[in-house]
Amino acid sequence: MAECIDVTLVANAGILVRGGGTGLLVDGIHDQGDHPFDRVDRDTLVRMRQGDAPFQQLEYLLFTHEHPDHFTPGLVMEHLRYRRTKGLFTPDPRCGSVEAVLLARFAGELGVPQWNGSLEPGQAKTYGLGEGLGVTVIGGVHMGKAFTGVRNDSFLVSVGSSNLLFTGDADHVPEHFEKALAGVSLDAAFVNPIFYHNPEGQRCINEVFRPREVVICHLPDREKDTYHLWFTLERALSRHARPGMPVRVLTTDSPSLRFCTERG
Ligand SMILES: [Fe+2]
Repeated sequence: MAECIDVTLVANAGILVRGGGTGLLVDGIHDQGDHPFDRVDRDTLVRMRQGDAPFQQLEYLLFTHEHPDHFTPGLVMEHLRYRRTKGLFTPDPRCGSVEAVLLARFAGELGVPQWNGSLEPGQAKTYGLGEGLGVTVIGGVHMGKAFTGVRNDSFLVSVGSSNLLFTGDADHVPEHFEKALAGVSLDAAFVNPIFYHNPEGQRCINEVFRPREVVICHLPDREKDTYHLWFTLERALSRHARPGMPVRVLTTDSPSLRFCTERG
């Protein structure tokens, strides 16, 4: 019997994961800031609150770091006013904005379980969330010289026998992932184009992640691509793509994937 997980791009690095009777959203509530990446539009936010397709099951909200193209705490607060959630994984609000502190306080008042990340690079914590569901938070730093002081948690999401890794904007440092992923068989690793392009990112993929496939997200519309990420990605694909490890790119034109594994 096949066990399947559905993955849907919400906006930018925002990904909805559905499987095993539950739904998790990674970096999927944001609409703020001056950047070229897609925002989560109003209609999508309302559908999330109302439980309209594909958000009928939306039980855990996970955020890798508090940057405006990944996480808008005020909008998460608004979401929680309308819809209860079983848990919230956020960066440590003590290192974040006033809005992040207010969100933590509000979620606390509602009795929403919260797990704070911003873990030390290389540190990891695993949380069992019920039958066949677990999340491992893996500490790291944000990529890019401008963000060396910013933490970025990656998430290993385990649903049944499937394992998906979401790296957000994690820096490509193999040592940050080694311990948490030792012995883990990854069905897919989600990375941004810069991670995939970088030789150290390739080392993470080849030597540490060793996924069945790689999924690339966090691409702007081609018309707004001020960072030339499409060019970077296309060059990287021609350089690094190889048989045995498919690479798929999630875009608004092609926003869905399904991962199936055979069970006993
Ligand atoms: Fe980002």
